[in-house]
Amino acid sequence: EIQERDSLIIANDFARQYYEDQLHQTEIGKSVGLGYFRSRGFRKETLKTFGLGYAPSSTDGLYQAALKAGYKEEQLEKLGLIRNGRDFFRDRVMFTIHNLGGKPIAFAGRILRKDAKAPKYINSPETEIYHKSDVLYGMFQARQAIRKLDNVYLVEGYTDVISLYQSGIRNVVATSGTSLTPGQAKLVKRFTENVTLLYDGDKAGVKAALRGVDVLLAADLNVRVVVLPDGQDPDGYMQEVGTTVFEKYLEETRQDFLFFKADILLEEAGQDVAARSAAIRDIGSTLALVSDPLKRAGYLQQFSSKLGLEEGLLVQLVNKAIADRR
Ligand code: UTP
Ligand code: MN
Ligand code: MN
Ligand code: MN
Ligand code: MN
Repeated sequence: EIQERDSLIIANDFARQYYEDQLHQTEIGKSVGLGYFRSRGFRKETLKTFGLGYAPSSTDGLYQAALKAGYKEEQLEKLGLIRNGRDFFRDRVMFTIHNLGGKPIAFAGRILRKDAKAPKYINSPETEIYHKSDVLYGMFQARQAIRKLDNVYLVEGYTDVISLYQSGIRNVVATSGTSLTPGQAKLVKRFTENVTLLYDGDKAGVKAALRGVDVLLAADLNVRVVVLPDGQDPDGYMQEVGTTVFEKYLEETRQDFLFFKADILLEEAGQDVAARSAAIRDIGSTLALVSDPLKRAGYLQQFSSKLGLEEGLLVQLVNKAIADRR
């Protein structure tokens, strides 16, 4: 007997094929869908590698095709492909989300043009085969490169993954716009211990990176951060400057998590003594997450010389944070 999980994946694979056929084989898909991806600089082979497709504006095109092929309405609804007798994804370009074996477990659909009312992306719901908080987009495509290079770039968006991969940086996965979870950190750890956060160069991106640092450190990962130029995301910056300049930027601006966090918090605090103390305490609580005592001592040394503060005082602070956490 086929397991429920397997049959959900088989139904999703039918949908994936449908969206791909719509993109590559219909007139509307070719003009609207392929036109959109071309405008973003995505090549044909890239579309295949990532299972990109097109959902037409038709009310129930997928629904009818799936029923005809013998799929059950209940299952299509559970997968979020159908809602109230209509296709859920309509007139959107489609992104397939794969499991580690390359099977489709979920989809995201992007609107084609800016619209104040409709969300930019809509996504499949949680199911038995899709636990969003345990998934990193692009891991199937990136896993070998991550192992080989022993480092992974963590980005925010689907198109950031695709764009970097196509440009030759293949060790990239995305959190898909939500805050990084312990489950995702654990997933990363199966492939490498070295993570570089590469979030959007805006306020939200920096905030997300600050939170991400703690989650990754708690999973015993080595964490570095790259802050992109103002207003850029990895896709936009890559499309603007190309691989050589992009890689040079990564090399030159990559910081250890400690300096990233310290620079931001201390700058915010300014010269006010109370605010500065709170910032130092906050950084101390992050250092307390570093479980390797040698690494922690190294960071404490760096931090104290950066601050011009007595090292023993910081050691005390961090040790207290460690004790409080227990
Ligand atoms: P962004 O707004 O940065 O989008 O959200 P993006 O990835 O740069 O997409 P493009 O370049 O405009 O196409 C980052 C990620 O947050 C999730 C998606 O995973 C997106 O890739 N997101 C964003 C949603 O799930 N829904 C939304 O409405 C917006
Ligand atoms: Mn789970
Ligand atoms: Mn953003
Ligand atoms: Mn973008
Ligand atoms: Mn973005």
